[in-house]
Amino acid sequence: MSSCLMAMLAAIALSSFLFTADPKGQLVISNFKVADAKVNSRSQEVGLARFNLTADLTSLFHWNTKQLFIYVTAEYNNSDGTHNEVVIWDRIVLRKEDALVDVVVPPKYPLRDMRYSFKKSSPVRFALKYNLMPYVGALTYGEAARTEPEPFPPKVGKL
Ligand SMILES: *[C@@H]1O[C@H](CO)[C@@H](O)[C@H](O)[C@H]1NC(C)=O
Ligand SMILES: *[C@@H]1O[C@H](CO)[C@@H](O)[C@H](O)[C@H]1NC(C)=O
Repeated sequence: MSSCLMAMLAAIALSSFLFTADPKGQLVISNFKVADAKVNSRSQEVGLARFNLTADLTSLFHWNTKQLFIYVTAEYNNSDGTHNEVVIWDRIVLRKEDALVDVVVPPKYPLRDMRYSFKKSSPVRFALKYNLMPYVGALTYGEAARTEPEPFPPKVGKL
């Protein structure tokens, strides 16, 4: 590759950082429950979150945006003190028109812990995150909404 082209690509990659994107979102957990479930013939606790998500991520779409991967995480420390960040919902956004998100989401991926239980876990906090894949340059990551930490609710029986 000619050094001129290299310099140009470097300039393009750098310039996408100059856009002051201001993604805004609101994440409201409408229901979060913990229940027993059988997973791979083993009984364990699962966490199920139902939430409303609205977000305006259109500012992340510019000429160097190839696609956006948006996801909702549940973050907590389990009884071992291990920090967990679990993806409970995700979506790929390819067009600016689809970057206005307004969805009511039933549980998609249940939350599970390698301790099989959420007993003695820290409170859990949910967040809307994104990673932006550009045509040229490095992936960038960000967060557009987060909830206040809330304790895991008591178990409500079997699923
Ligand atoms: C979530 O959205 C639904 C449908 O728009 C609405 O009925 C419900 O009140 C919302 N829940 C919360 C917690 O905002
Ligand atoms: C989880 O543990 C980390 C240290 O590993 C600590 O910095 C963080 O505050 C803890 N988070 C919660 C929600 O307790």
